[in-house]
Amino acid sequence: MFEYGLERKVEELVGLRERREKDSELYKIANEVFDRGTLAALLYLHRKGWIERLQGIISTGKEANVFAGVAGDGKSVAVKVYRTYTTEFRRIWGYLAADPRVGYLPKDIRRLVFVWTRREFKNLQRAIKYALRVPEPRIFRNNVLVMEFIGGDEPAPRLKDVERELNRGDFEELYDFTMGVIERLWKRGDMVHGDMSEYNILIWDSPVVIDWSQATVRRNKMSVALLRRDLRNVISYFTRKGVHTDDFNEKLKELLES
Ligand SMILES: Nc1ncnc2c1ncn2[C@@H]1O[C@H](COP(=O)(O)OP(=O)(O)O)[C@@H](O)[C@H]1O
Ligand SMILES: [Mg+2]
Repeated sequence: MFEYGLERKVEELVGLRERREKDSELYKIANEVFDRGTLAALLYLHRKGWIERLQGIISTGKEANVFAGVAGDGKSVAVKVYRTYTTEFRRIWGYLAADPRVGYLPKDIRRLVFVWTRREFKNLQRAIKYALRVPEPRIFRNNVLVMEFIGGDEPAPRLKDVERELNRGDFEELYDFTMGVIERLWKRGDMVHGDMSEYNILIWDSPVVIDWSQATVRRNKMSVALLRRDLRNVISYFTRKGVHTDDFNEKLKELLES
């Protein structure tokens, strides 16, 4: 991955300087997905030392792009930049409207995405409070979330990326880990992740659960539906991998009665 001065890029992208490195993948994606507001947020975070430079793109999704970067203190960071022109307005609105922690809901998508970003930040903080291994949240600004980078020279792979290399024993351990997270979150943290899957578990020093944007609290009327979905996805995935899994209904009942 090449390096790229953020300030320079931001300045280039807002048209302040001669454009360079136009062929790089990072430049192309940044140019395509960063609107003026996003650039302003990035520049703010840069000036405050939260992001010294962006180094490359880790993931391009339909809601967010995730970049690898380095902070002013030299530590690696992952920078999740939500798109502010998503077609997912109704879905995001629905999730936020059901969350008792969220107060006023803006009518425009851009500001709604800011609320969505803040909620993911808060979810990460809350998960850490209950001793779960998640990327440590550093700061957020508008639609930009800065967190601990999980990985070394390369980002940590997702469970989905390494599943072919794993044996039955590995899957058993990972199943216990994942079910343990669901239980601890629900029982101790009064919380549900809502998108627990082989795509949102990174395999590193220990497994790390990421992507907390859909997570919410038990008080949310949607929480049981999200819990059911997490349990169903996790049980069916690990069953396919040959793990002797819990019975869905029994597990659900146990959790709902806790
Ligand atoms: N803190 C992180 N460290 C390393 N890689 C990350 C980190 N957060 C996200 N990623 C990578 O970016 C991808 C997308 O991030 P995620 O939060 O799951 O967003 P979404 O699935 O909504 O696009 C992940 O699958 C993972 O590969
Ligand atoms: Mg994800």
